[in-house]
Amino acid sequence: MRKKITIVGAGHVGATAAQLIAYKELGDIVLIDIIEGVPQGKGLDLQESAPLELFDSSIIGTNDYKDTANSDAVVVTAGIPRKPGMSREDLLDVNVKIVKAVIEQVIKYSPDAFVIVVSNPLDAMCYVAMKIGKLSRNRIIGLSGVLDSARMRAFVAMELNVSMDDVQAMVLGLHGDDMVPLPRYSTVSGISITELLSREQIERIIDRTRKGGGEIVNYLKTGSAYYAPGAAIVQMLESVLKNKKRVLPCAAFLEGEYGISGIFTGVPVKLGGSGVEKIIQIKLTDNEMAALRKSAEEARKTVSQIKL
Ligand code: NAI
Ligand code: 2OP
Repeated sequence: MRKKITIVGAGHVGATAAQLIAYKELGDIVLIDIIEGVPQGKGLDLQESAPLELFDSSIIGTNDYKDTANSDAVVVTAGIPRKPGMSREDLLDVNVKIVKAVIEQVIKYSPDAFVIVVSNPLDAMCYVAMKIGKLSRNRIIGLSGVLDSARMRAFVAMELNVSMDDVQAMVLGLHGDDMVPLPRYSTVSGISITELLSREQIERIIDRTRKGGGEIVNYLKTGSAYYAPGAAIVQMLESVLKNKKRVLPCAAFLEGEYGISGIFTGVPVKLGGSGVEKIIQIKLTDNEMAALRKSAEEARKTVSQIKL
């Protein structure tokens, strides 16, 4: 039987993810938004591309959560994006209300769904979703490291003028300025980038990665990135729905791993049919560990401002 995937928020990220999910035939898609007509219009437009792109996924656009019933996976992209000069944290108050309302409805109709949170500020929105949905930690992750490490991979490939195919990167911590890119665990065909790039080059790449979301916001002016976020969502979703067991950096709820508890932060996760199958603890230097813990504490500060 085909999988059923609900995407909440038919905006830039939601619609882009829907398109990629359809192209990969990961399942049938329900696109839901609070604005009447938008999910219906985008859903129908995408469905009409099927004979050209040759996919058999069905896409329904709706404003009614009944249509989302019994989804295998739900991607939450509902919320406002930032504009130039705004931090992800500036979105907190508005997006807490939105994510809360969305999760209540989603879990009512799909009590067993795997949830991927995208809305910002990401690590805090994951916390809201988990608490409101009463989700076990294997059933919920957030989009952070897959996107942030894709940016770092792109910058490394561009700097070295090598194929994007051969570059891997690891970015842990919160999805924000205090994210933790790890050059020692970033490679080109297995060769650490610390052997291929100077310290200055690496520092420049780390800085650009940390500010990667803001760089796009400054260009777009009216919103934030969506092509790379859409592709990152699909990579995580595919690993769960196809039980691929990929090891990807994702925001996961920590219960003592890396000495951190009670908060979401980006760590390497094995993603399979049962969701978060394992949180992988890699060896970190004292400096790397301190940076990861500081990053998690920043997320904790944001969460402490939330009243659920
Ligand atoms: P957008 O403004 O294009 O789309 C958001 C959609 O959410 C709109 O269509 C809006 O009508 C809908 N929405 C608002 N309230 C809703 C509700 N209660 N129920 C259902 N739908 C609702 O924004 P975009 O660019 O798609 O970004 C969405 C969110 O994702 C933002 O918070 C953004 O910061 C975040 N984001 C996070 C990334 C990450 O790496 N974690 C990457 C990119 C975006
Ligand atoms: C990004 O990093 C907006 O958080 C989003 O592009």
